[in-house]
Amino acid sequence: MNPEEFEIFITCVPGLENELLNEVQELGFKKTIIASGGIHFFGGWHDVWRANFYLRGATKVLVRFASFRAIHLSQLDKRSRKLEWGKLLNFKKPFKVETVCRKSKIYHSKAASQRISKAISDKLYSKEDPNSRIMVKARIASDLCTISLDSSGEGLHKRGYKIATGKAPIRETLAALFLRKMKFDGSQVVYDPMCGSGTIVIEAAEIALGLPAGRNRTFAFMELPSFKKDEYEKLAKINQKKIKLKFYGSDRDNGAIQNSIKNSQKANVGTSCDFKTKSISNATPPTQEPGIILVNPPYGKRVGSRKNLFALYRSLGQTLSEKFVGWHVGIITSDTGLAKATELKFLDISSAVDNGGTKVKLYETKINHPKI
Ligand SMILES: C[S@@+](CC[C@H](N)C(=O)[O-])C[C@H]1O[C@@H](n2cnc3c(N)ncnc32)[C@H](O)[C@@H]1O
Repeated sequence: MNPEEFEIFITCVPGLENELLNEVQELGFKKTIIASGGIHFFGGWHDVWRANFYLRGATKVLVRFASFRAIHLSQLDKRSRKLEWGKLLNFKKPFKVETVCRKSKIYHSKAASQRISKAISDKLYSKEDPNSRIMVKARIASDLCTISLDSSGEGLHKRGYKIATGKAPIRETLAALFLRKMKFDGSQVVYDPMCGSGTIVIEAAEIALGLPAGRNRTFAFMELPSFKKDEYEKLAKINQKKIKLKFYGSDRDNGAIQNSIKNSQKANVGTSCDFKTKSISNATPPTQEPGIILVNPPYGKRVGSRKNLFALYRSLGQTLSEKFVGWHVGIITSDTGLAKATELKFLDISSAVDNGGTKVKLYETKINHPKI
């Protein structure tokens, strides 16, 4: 591994790679290559730190450490022992190893992990610990073993502000990528009329205020020998903008609204957010100027039963088409039938993407004046 430059793989939910690519390029990363489930490029530790700190749509930032062929476990063992683990990991510090095997002669992922783990332990006098946040990831595909280090630690959707969640919250990373897909650039009003714990509204406010996604959390890379605190502090900057714009959320559940308020205050965007207890049938445009509605209504598999949800989606569709003329609407749901129940004419439907185990799609439309 060249200590100056190595391959970096930024992962995201498969299906939204184009939106992540757009964000990665905006951050100034060059020679990026799009792949299934993420973006590759070559860079150094500063790039790893910046990617973790700033990117809103990334799930993880992986550092590619080594790649070699291995067709049996003893070969994996031998080649793992040859790697310069001391350049990547600390001596005598716990770590863990996770392996996936695909279409390879080595098919027993647990046995493969054990070999790699033993190679590291013997070299660094360290022990494997399932609670460690230092995770070495091995992928053995078509007999090629690729070893990476997870530089993020906890998934990057964990922004560090959520003290209260409700039912079925959307992942922050997904909210950010869907907002980007809807061309939100921080200058439009965003309203979520079923806001739950406030994820979409808070994400929009953070983007508009220029607040980096990772400012309230730590990362696994901070525990590596390559980490230099003073250098990190120079590039992990918060340049908060002054904005007049507000971001709006409502929900019929007052408990959810209280959670949204607490979360927005913890994220330090409370004064840019406005949350109200209100049912969808009473929702009205929060501003005269139309903006973006991004909403994640309940869907059968997770909250409530599907049958009762048809009336809710009908009511959502009716409210939007009657009161929100000119608004750009995005509805996130796992259920095509429910989306159809809104009776909205969708202009774009995204591919299915994973939200914590459920496949969801973004259904987009623009509310036009009703035909007279
Ligand atoms: C899937 S959750 C939204 C989660 C939210 N995006 C988050 O990240 O926390 C759906 C929300 O719709 C709300 N809801 C259900 N029926 C509603 C209605 N008739 N009017 C307004 N909100 C409603 C629920 O209270 C719930 O908070």
